[in-house]
Amino acid sequence: MSRIVSATHDHIAEAADILKNRGLVGMPTETVYGLAANALDGEAVAKIFEAKGRPSFNPLIIHVADMRQAMQYGEMGEYAQLLVNAFWPGPLTLIVPRKKNSGISELATAGLDTIALREPAHPIAQGLIKTSGLPIAAPSANKSGSLSPTTPAHVHDSLGDAVDMILAAGPCAVGLESTVLDVSGSVPVILRPGAITAEQIGEVLDMGVEIAANETEAPKSPGMLLKHYAPNTPIRINAIDVQDGEALLAFGSDKFMVAHDFPAEMKRNLSEGQDLYEAAANLFSMLKELDQCNAKRIAVMAIPQTGIGIAINDRLSRAAKRD
Ligand code: TXA
Ligand code: MG
Repeated sequence: MSRIVSATHDHIAEAADILKNRGLVGMPTETVYGLAANALDGEAVAKIFEAKGRPSFNPLIIHVADMRQAMQYGEMGEYAQLLVNAFWPGPLTLIVPRKKNSGISELATAGLDTIALREPAHPIAQGLIKTSGLPIAAPSANKSGSLSPTTPAHVHDSLGDAVDMILAAGPCAVGLESTVLDVSGSVPVILRPGAITAEQIGEVLDMGVEIAANETEAPKSPGMLLKHYAPNTPIRINAIDVQDGEALLAFGSDKFMVAHDFPAEMKRNLSEGQDLYEAAANLFSMLKELDQCNAKRIAVMAIPQTGIGIAINDRLSRAAKRD
């Protein structure tokens, strides 16, 4: 059994030892729970891929304590430095050229000559990085292709015994994976939208910043694969009604969507007050709950395509895509 423990000082120290001994730890961050391993140890990193059932070409984010540690592993150029000053610690992952002989496992970066770096804003993640003294490779702590975990129980349900210890620190504040921004080329490109938006990034860099098209022949970020974040129940987005047998994931008032006696377990509301941050934080756990209610489909009301709404719609359109 994977052990779910409260994230006390002693348990963080124990988790740091597990990492040093090639184990896997469920680590809370402000975005989603991560599946943490020592990024310097290829065998530990291999355990991540095995636990997730993830194709090994998909590179991992390396979590660091600060800019100084980031500079050990990546070339932090001018754009990277400006963005670190503005948004770290926080939900922004930077893709930069990888430093040679940095000691980071090649498997963690999938053999690429770039590396994904992030300083998480969560005190427990920070504590684990500092206590272990290690760079921590951590994808979201779920089976590949399923929904990202925003609670300790999600981690346990998805990965079970494959994780040695789960540091529990309640639900994640952001609830969506970090923005992934590629600053390794001459023009910065958002590979995965998240809480830090294109507008915010553009303001800091004083330029327009593009979001990469969803699906390319050979995706630069394998996280761009179109069908990715999927519950088992099919999803219908931008719904303006609820059809027979459907569950409802609402946003804002759902008064006109369903009758009074619509079963409560078939309905969730991402944010009655139309707060996009609240909606992001609720998204994955509510999809998981509705996935349990034997609906034939989940109808999802439209989410405004603005701010973090862009990231929410990105995840929803991937979840809606069936193949
Ligand atoms: O919020 C988050 O980012 C969470 C928490 C745990 O930090 N982590 C997370 O990791 O979502 P993961 O592995 O599920 O997603 C990492 C994304 C993937 O889409 C991967 O393809 C992309 O980052 N990525 C990593 N390294 C890359 C690289 N060198 N070039 C392009 N994309 C890269
Ligand atoms: Mg993931």
